[in-house]
Amino acid sequence: MLDHSITFTMRVFHAQRLKKSTYPLFLCVVLLLTLEEVVNKANALQMITQPNKTIVSFIGSNQTFSWNFVLTEEEKAKVLIVTFGHWSKEYSMVLGDHLVIFVHDSIANERVYKGNASIARRLNWVGDMARGFVAFQLTDVQARDSSDYGIRFRVDSFPPETEESGFTLSVQDPPSIPTRTPEPQDITIKIVEGDVLNITCRALMYGHSSVSWLKDKKLIENEDEKTLFLGNVSRSQAGEYICVSLSPYGNHSSPVTTVDVLYPPKIQTGDEQVLVELLRGHSMPLTCIASGNPSPVLSWHRQRDGISETFKNPWNSSSLVVTPINDTDFTSYTCIATNKMGSDQVTFILKEKADKPASESGTQDPGQTRMSGQGHSSLVMYIFVGAGVAVLAVSLVMAYVCWRKQRGNSKNCCTRGIERDGAERIPIGPQDEDTKTAESLQA
Ligand SMILES: *[C@@H]1O[C@H](CO)[C@@H](O)[C@H](O)[C@H]1NC(C)=O
Ligand SMILES: *[C@@H]1O[C@H](CO)[C@@H](O)[C@H](O)[C@H]1NC(C)=O
Ligand SMILES: *[C@@H]1O[C@H](CO)[C@@H](O)[C@H](O)[C@H]1NC(C)=O
Ligand SMILES: *[C@@H]1O[C@H](CO)[C@@H](O)[C@H](O)[C@H]1NC(C)=O
Ligand SMILES: *[C@@H]1O[C@H](CO)[C@@H](O)[C@H](O)[C@H]1NC(C)=O
Ligand SMILES: *[C@@H]1O[C@H](CO)[C@@H](O)[C@H](O)[C@H]1NC(C)=O
Ligand SMILES: *[C@@H]1O[C@H](CO)[C@@H](O)[C@H](O)[C@H]1NC(C)=O
Ligand SMILES: *[C@@H]1O[C@H](CO)[C@@H](O)[C@H](O)[C@H]1NC(C)=O
Repeated sequence: MLDHSITFTMRVFHAQRLKKSTYPLFLCVVLLLTLEEVVNKANALQMITQPNKTIVSFIGSNQTFSWNFVLTEEEKAKVLIVTFGHWSKEYSMVLGDHLVIFVHDSIANERVYKGNASIARRLNWVGDMARGFVAFQLTDVQARDSSDYGIRFRVDSFPPETEESGFTLSVQDPPSIPTRTPEPQDITIKIVEGDVLNITCRALMYGHSSVSWLKDKKLIENEDEKTLFLGNVSRSQAGEYICVSLSPYGNHSSPVTTVDVLYPPKIQTGDEQVLVELLRGHSMPLTCIASGNPSPVLSWHRQRDGISETFKNPWNSSSLVVTPINDTDFTSYTCIATNKMGSDQVTFILKEKADKPASESGTQDPGQTRMSGQGHSSLVMYIFVGAGVAVLAVSLVMAYVCWRKQRGNSKNCCTRGIERDGAERIPIGPQDEDTKTAESLQA
């Protein structure tokens, strides 16, 4: 108000002093007055809040730019034009083609005009004039949106009132979530023995990385290809493989590739058939051990009167204790090892051993000879009997020698220890021979 009165005084002063002088000077005063009024009215349009000078936004997100302002009642009755456009830092003003224009006219009609720049299609008016809220939302922010933007408020009075401000939009990649990155995992490759296998190096590599391979933590010599080629895979190649990439920027180890070589069962008895001789009533374990991957399942089949009974055993080693009591127990016992790769089998043919002292020790395999407790006690008995006979024989010989010495004749002596086995096991060859042996033994 003070400003106004001073201006008025000046106006009067000028009017009085220069009325008679030149018109150009009077016009000059009128211009001064007009300029002064513009300054006064501009102070009425007030921006309360505005965006930060730099706004960081992420690609793909939506970003809203907002301002709050106040208008006088007089200004509210006028046309308000809000222009969103590129900002010139040099001139501190909105420059060039507009991106979006919002117009609020004197009868409260609102219109939005979009420019034809590509960003304009994604810029929308989201303000609310009733609350003095001016806002534009930029949807699906793109990297190329990084730029300086500004806003111009214009109240269409005479003279027009304007306010401008700018900001910088900085678009960045969205922050990555570390746990999302898929880490290479340890893997197991199952491969059938004899097949071909390529193991690919899964270590992080730079352009000029060289590669080494390790099996069970030991370096494989002369292997520097990014693919390890295993032709005709053998069971000894099963193990844990790691590849290491070597480069000046760093060495990287791959996760573990476990190679599991699958092969069919093999029973650790050289022969397909084994002949076993056992005394009636004595016990003996028939042992079956099989290799194979996956670990084979063992089963026993006993041939009795043409009917086979099955005993299953989940282990790769199995013992079946046989105690033949009557004739039907002297039959064949077959061990079958099975896994998904195939099967193997061995047949034990149980024969009755004649129940008499063994005078001749035939083709005995000491490792195969087995005896039960019962057999053992009979052996002890035989040893006692044998020792007694030997002592008697020695005494007799000594007596005889003494007698012969007295008589002056030559000496003669012969003693023999008696051995006895409860059982003996004789491995035999091909099937035809086996059958013949079995028949001859039976006879
Ligand atoms: C402005 O900057 C301040 C601090 O720098 C921040 O807390 C605020 O969220 C920012 N506002 C906007 C709208 O980005
Ligand atoms: C962005 O806004 C659009 C429309 O308003 C919506 O469909 C979309 O889901 C929003 N995107 C994000 C990331 O908020
Ligand atoms: C935008 O549209 C106007 C007319 O509506 C046209 O004169 C101008 O060349 C266009 N600008 C671009 C960059 O397409
Ligand atoms: C293994 O790699 C060799 C080359 O190193 C290629 O000739 C062969 O076809 C590959 N075999 C398989 C089964 O991928
Ligand atoms: C694969 O290797 C085995 C010995 O490991 C050999 O007996 C067999 O002949 C080989 N097969 C081929 C096709 O080279
Ligand atoms: C990579 O491994 C090689 C050979 O083992 C070694 O000489 C070199 O120092 C290693 N480099 C780094 C960066 O660890
Ligand atoms: C039997 O299986 C065990 C594990 O179940 C394994 O350690 C052993 O080597 C196998 N024996 C043979 C002969 O495959
Ligand atoms: C043989 O002995 C078993 C018992 O071990 C018995 O069940 C069976 O009847 C006997 N068979 C004969 C023919 O005596």
